[in-house]
Amino acid sequence: MTTKIPRHNPAYSGLIAKLFNLKSGSLFLDLTLGDGGHTQEALQAGAKVISFDIDPESIQRAKQFIPQNLHKNWTVVNSNMTQVSQRLTNQRFNGILIDLGPSQYQILSPNRGFSFSSNQALDMRLDKNLGVTAKDFLAALGQKELEQVFRLADEPRAKQIAQAIVSNRKISPITTGQQLANLVTKLKGSYKKTHPATQVFLGLRMAVNLEREVIQKTLPQLPDLLKTNGILGIISFHSGEDKLVKQFGKDQPETLSVIYKKPLKPTAEEINNNPRVRSACLRLFKKI
Ligand SMILES: C[S@@+](CC[C@H](N)C(=O)[O-])C[C@H]1O[C@@H](n2cnc3c(N)ncnc32)[C@H](O)[C@@H]1O
Repeated sequence: MTTKIPRHNPAYSGLIAKLFNLKSGSLFLDLTLGDGGHTQEALQAGAKVISFDIDPESIQRAKQFIPQNLHKNWTVVNSNMTQVSQRLTNQRFNGILIDLGPSQYQILSPNRGFSFSSNQALDMRLDKNLGVTAKDFLAALGQKELEQVFRLADEPRAKQIAQAIVSNRKISPITTGQQLANLVTKLKGSYKKTHPATQVFLGLRMAVNLEREVIQKTLPQLPDLLKTNGILGIISFHSGEDKLVKQFGKDQPETLSVIYKKPLKPTAEEINNNPRVRSACLRLFKKI
């Protein structure tokens, strides 16, 4: 494990017990374990917790970060969350949480191929069993398909970037984060705060990991896994994902009620301490 990379500091840190009303004897399902910060908060509140993660490296890290004395109430499942209802039969939870996207560990880990500056192969798979990497997508997708991938991440120059990738790869293929980031920066120009390739990298990551499909397959399984009055919380970091979550809430009027009409945003203080969470958005639903 790459221990040098600091522990992921999750959005809404310190609020899990309160948001999900957890106490001793509660049962909590964390579908995105990551470095285990949210799971740890639930365990510290006295809940029994089952945590899923698709990435064995993240599970290894979480096992080291979460204090040993909390492990007795904790079960870990290495699985895609899309398999949740097959993997869990009979249990009903007081709270279920999904914290979408990669962890800081995955982004910063040089061999995972997520970063703008990496000169290693663009990979971006959260699940190493997936056959197709970001580098494969860049080599194989047609111009229209690449444009669509970038559009889904709200990239305004999707068409020009797709064109540039396709004409560039005739001369030499784009295989690293650095090459892709340079190509996009050349097209879009210099920047102040956000790297100009942010949306392009986001679109590729979403495509490689089928992230929209995962949300669409997983969410409908969750109401049946909640106890009456149990709470479902979904943290997303992109408006396209949040739209899927919002629509899911609307589609379940008989099983779920919306707790807050507007999603919860991190406070200015939280953003100040942890700027990565500035685009986070949490929707909470209660099982009827
Ligand atoms: C943003 S991180 C979660 C961080 C975590 N809440 C914490 O406190 O450290 C998301 C995690 O979900 C995992 N993940 C992403 N997609 C998944 C999926 N379809 N099924 C299971 N785990 C997934 C990733 O591997 C990553 O470790």
